[in-house]
Amino acid sequence: MKFFLDTADLNEIKEVESWGLLAGVTTNPSLYARIGGRVDDFKKHIARICEITSGPVSAECVSMKRDEIIAEGRELAAIAPNVVVKIPTMIEGLAATKVLASEGIRVNMTLCFSVPQALMAARSGARYISPFIGRFDDIGEDGLEQFEQVVCSVKNYEFASSNGLGEEPEIIAASVRSSHHVTQAALMGADIATVPFNVLKKCVEHPLTDRGLDAFMKDWEKVKNQ
Ligand code: G3P
Repeated sequence: MKFFLDTADLNEIKEVESWGLLAGVTTNPSLYARIGGRVDDFKKHIARICEITSGPVSAECVSMKRDEIIAEGRELAAIAPNVVVKIPTMIEGLAATKVLASEGIRVNMTLCFSVPQALMAARSGARYISPFIGRFDDIGEDGLEQFEQVVCSVKNYEFASSNGLGEEPEIIAASVRSSHHVTQAALMGADIATVPFNVLKKCVEHPLTDRGLDAFMKDWEKVKNQ
């Protein structure tokens, strides 16, 4: 499973890029708002992210009608070769995805919460599908169970001929809130997990690592004093 960072924060992206494991970045309007982003700076900001990572960078369309989504998607895709156009799972989004995929533009279909939505996204030509986990937990449902159903159903079929790119869609575990989500998504066969910075930092931590490191350092002090 690959790691994407779910953020629009350039410092977070630079930091994780330095760890050597960053495979891509996903943004959305809420994440852009969180860093105080402005509409007139959005494309430049996506370009800045694309300079930090060569992996796929998802930039989300905010149009609601297919023709507008297509036009917006083309504009976003023109920012850099590694831009992936993020489009919500809805009829207008599916129709736009079909057209963009036929032009070789990669689409990440987002706000996916069900097996039918995921299969329809794959069939319309989405290169990435983003089922959300944490938002199910927010409403008292089991996000991981829902995620597993999506992975199993999508992996049952072949879609490479659907997306105009000749590649199978990759499933991105999104709305990831914990190391447990990351573990389970990997066991369930997620291709990618897009993880917020703070959760990703937690993922590298373990109390036994801390305890083991503490013992090694103390013993090394003894060696130095012998
Ligand atoms: O990028 C989409 C998704 O990861 C958002 O997560 O935490 O807002 O539910 P969250």
